[in-house]
Amino acid sequence: MTAARATAEAPANIAFVKYWGARDLDHAVPWTASLSMTLRRCCSVCTVEVIELDEDLVQWVNRNGECVDPGVGFASRVRAHLATLRRRLGTAARFRVATRNNFPSSAGIASSASGFAALTMATVAVAGRRLDPAALSVLARMSGSGSAARSTLGGFVEWPEDISNPQGPAAQVATADHWPLCDVIAVTDQGEKAVPSRQGHRRAPTSPLFATRLSLVPERLEQARQAIRDRDLEGLGRVIESEALDLHYIAMSSQPPIYYWNGGTIDVLKTVQRLRKTGCPVFWTMDAGANVHLICSQAERETVVREVEALESVRQVIRDEVGPGPRLLDTHLI
Ligand code: PMV
Repeated sequence: MTAARATAEAPANIAFVKYWGARDLDHAVPWTASLSMTLRRCCSVCTVEVIELDEDLVQWVNRNGECVDPGVGFASRVRAHLATLRRRLGTAARFRVATRNNFPSSAGIASSASGFAALTMATVAVAGRRLDPAALSVLARMSGSGSAARSTLGGFVEWPEDISNPQGPAAQVATADHWPLCDVIAVTDQGEKAVPSRQGHRRAPTSPLFATRLSLVPERLEQARQAIRDRDLEGLGRVIESEALDLHYIAMSSQPPIYYWNGGTIDVLKTVQRLRKTGCPVFWTMDAGANVHLICSQAERETVVREVEALESVRQVIRDEVGPGPRLLDTHLI
């Protein structure tokens, strides 16, 4: 049975231990496990509607609520994922898909994670199926966006690296209620990043630093799990900063190199150093982009916001925090 229409809202996530480098890029099989915090406010909303056409229709909903052409790259990734989902769900239906992000897309705030998690959840619902978050996680990463595997769950989420089960799901490590951490996102570039993460994953093993990081990840994962269990921000901070630096060291030393940072990135990192010297516990991480995620407690959040808002090179500051994960909505985009 298919419903006429379904809409899902799925959040972005910020990786504490990174997925960077794939054994199999098309199936998003990682070289390492990864661990992230699911966000609450940076979300994609996706409506999927059954249509009586021979082809899927893909639309982007802009800030004014208008449906616009999403561009060839995005549309072809969505179509490819719909074809995969049709096979997996055993349906021949064609769909009209409309997607909206409430934050800058493709700028290192995991818009493909939230976008493909929302698309997967809405398509499953419109096909009349009910799947648990683990099953949704497996389906979402078939989009080729590995981090989408983590956006189908809330709180703190680990995506294991399991050679014996390379298509396995992500799993929740702790709920959002366990530790109400904040993520202040300092946006230093609102545009699309010049090199998509797919290219970064492909090039990562060409870096001489790649093998070193592989050997360090198991211990970092354990430290991150422990820090989350103990709500130990300093312990977590050490891990996330090492992991973000390593992702970017590897990107910068890949062949050909990828430079995601800009001047604003450095301004924000220096602000973090200064804040820490004044006794404000705030730690940073970055995904594949120039924007910086500042992880802190609720008590420190407004101090952090004030300091980064004062930087000329910071274009926008987003207040986010750990959230409960995706959900189906009763209101639709189309
Ligand atoms: O989800 P993908 O395949 O676009 O990879 C994104 C990877 C990073 O966001 C850079 C790191 C991570 O683990 O989320």
